[in-house]
Amino acid sequence: MRSSRPLAVVVVVAAMTTACAVVTPSRSPATTEAKFGRPVTETDIAPWDIDIRTSNGKGLPPGRGGVAEGKAVYEAKCLACHGPDAKGGPVYGSMVGGIGSFTTSTRVLTPGSMYPYAPILFDYIRRAMPMDKPLSLSANEVYAVSAYILNLNGLVPADAVMDQTSMPKVQMPNRDGFILDDRPDTHAVRCMRNCP
Ligand code: HEC
Repeated sequence: MRSSRPLAVVVVVAAMTTACAVVTPSRSPATTEAKFGRPVTETDIAPWDIDIRTSNGKGLPPGRGGVAEGKAVYEAKCLACHGPDAKGGPVYGSMVGGIGSFTTSTRVLTPGSMYPYAPILFDYIRRAMPMDKPLSLSANEVYAVSAYILNLNGLVPADAVMDQTSMPKVQMPNRDGFILDDRPDTHAVRCMRNCP
């Protein structure tokens, strides 16, 4: 009878499932280890382990880049969206100026006016830019284009070179402009084991 076939299939699948379920609990403690995958290696983790402690630059990678090289990177890979001299383009507004505007009601958000720490620029550009090709820049290119943007904002001289040591030392004008969020319900206590 044609119409009884689907039911027969269901019964067979159900029987197989039950059979598997019976086998599973018989594992001894020694065999509870997963039998798939492989231990993750430091090399596997490296491309993901790119966070930077922006207040002191911890985690900034080796490499270096100066303002002139940064201008070349900018013109090849950023100008189309951000416009000449980072003053605004078809996709995003200016990344230059606005310094001091944070205390006014017409504040202008640029890396120079807003970021409290220069390594934020490295972290953000490396992760997110160019917007159509994130994570495609070398560390040298990111250092260089960061140096260029900082220079356009008047925060480093034209011969400045950014690297692990120099970048955290750049004093950003809005360094003390942020306040800690001290509302009582934001006091999350870090917990790694036996957490409530
Ligand atoms: C395809 C367009 C595009 C390209 C190419 C591009 N950007 Fe952007 N960029 C954007 C957009 C859109 C934003 C705003 C993103 C947002 O607010 O989430 C942005 C934001 C930024 C910001 C943050 C600005 C701020 O005021 O905080 C920086 C810095 C930046 N881009 C740098 C770069 C650099 C450096 C390059 C080249 C290596 C680049 N961008 C290439 C589209 C682009």
